[in-house]
Amino acid sequence: MDARKQSEMLERLRAHLSNKTTDLSPYALKVPAEHYVSEDQFALEVEVLFKQRPLLVALTPHIANEGDYLTHEVIDTSIVLVRDGDGAARAYVNACRHRGARLAEGRGKKLSFSCPFHAWNWGLDGRIIARPNSHEGFAQADARYDQLLEVMCYETAGMIFVLLEGDDIEGKVKELMGSSLSDIANFDIESMQYIDSRETELDCNYKFFLDGFAETYHIGPLHKNTISPYYYSNSTLVERMADVVHLVSPRKTIDKEFEKPPAEQGSVLPYCTTEYLLAPNAMLTYQVDHVQFWRTYPIDGANRCRIELSLFWPKPMDAEAQRKARLNVDLVWDVTTQEDFPQSVAIHRNLASGAVPDLVFGRNEPALIYYHQNIATAIGSDRLIPFTELGDDKPQP
Ligand code: FES
Ligand SMILES: [Fe+2]
Repeated sequence: MDARKQSEMLERLRAHLSNKTTDLSPYALKVPAEHYVSEDQFALEVEVLFKQRPLLVALTPHIANEGDYLTHEVIDTSIVLVRDGDGAARAYVNACRHRGARLAEGRGKKLSFSCPFHAWNWGLDGRIIARPNSHEGFAQADARYDQLLEVMCYETAGMIFVLLEGDDIEGKVKELMGSSLSDIANFDIESMQYIDSRETELDCNYKFFLDGFAETYHIGPLHKNTISPYYYSNSTLVERMADVVHLVSPRKTIDKEFEKPPAEQGSVLPYCTTEYLLAPNAMLTYQVDHVQFWRTYPIDGANRCRIELSLFWPKPMDAEAQRKARLNVDLVWDVTTQEDFPQSVAIHRNLASGAVPDLVFGRNEPALIYYHQNIATAIGSDRLIPFTELGDDKPQP
């Protein structure tokens, strides 16, 4: 986010905090339980949102240097992301072209990938290097077996996207991200250091993950003994940037900026949680002085998901920065796993029981509304129904 935009946002926050107001959606939204628990809708979401649109799977510092790699499970496809000899991020299906064994696990650094099954050796460019002890047994096979299956990959502004089906990943990323790309470029993610990751699985629909971050309304009650004392949780800025929903939530430290002489005021980043929600499953957060990157994927249908957090910190890092960065991974993970995620699981269970026909998202939860409307629009669903702007409780036709 550049200086001019920060300055504008600071003024909007000043007005909200002094008037005790927040950004509002023009309408509240009725959300039927099926939006979360329907397997038919889920199948459509997988095809349209996870396979036919670019997914933000990693950040540049995940694979900063030649040979750095990271394996990542995208729905049912395992991929290996790797930095090749030309410095480009590449994505391959994590499967040997001999008989399909997985080539890599976790993350690390390699000059080449040696298949654990029969030791075929693959270069960072995906080309076969050697088939040891094969007695020319594969001489008849054509050139398709000399190259790993490649997945379309595009890197920009410190973010790495993949596309499982279709083409023109660059055009699609630009269309989805809109002006958020220049906002995010300003964070200079490329030059940050990868710190650590956490992962868990939950018994709930994957969409509940972003729901927990798409409003600050819950911070007072749900996090009253943890993060609530640090936030002004009832005044949040929300804007739509193409398919990205951007939230800026002020911490109480923002008072320090307001106390400066007027000519020196103009920053929001050091005092706010700044989130970019990208449907269906990714969130990038600039948190005061570092970046948190979250992804969620459905597992085996609408009722279970996997959540991954990775943390990045500006360089250079001294011992104190290392200590603070590691502390932050644990802190954010503890609050979300102990306070937010149990709510997601409980809500899913209520909806799946059939006893709760629908939910309502309020006008003071605009990011929640926009995130879900982005999903509904993409899959052509008319399940989400805006209430009238007058507060009439009859849904609009
Ligand atoms: S499956 Fe990889 S070498 Fe056989
Ligand atoms: Fe929360």
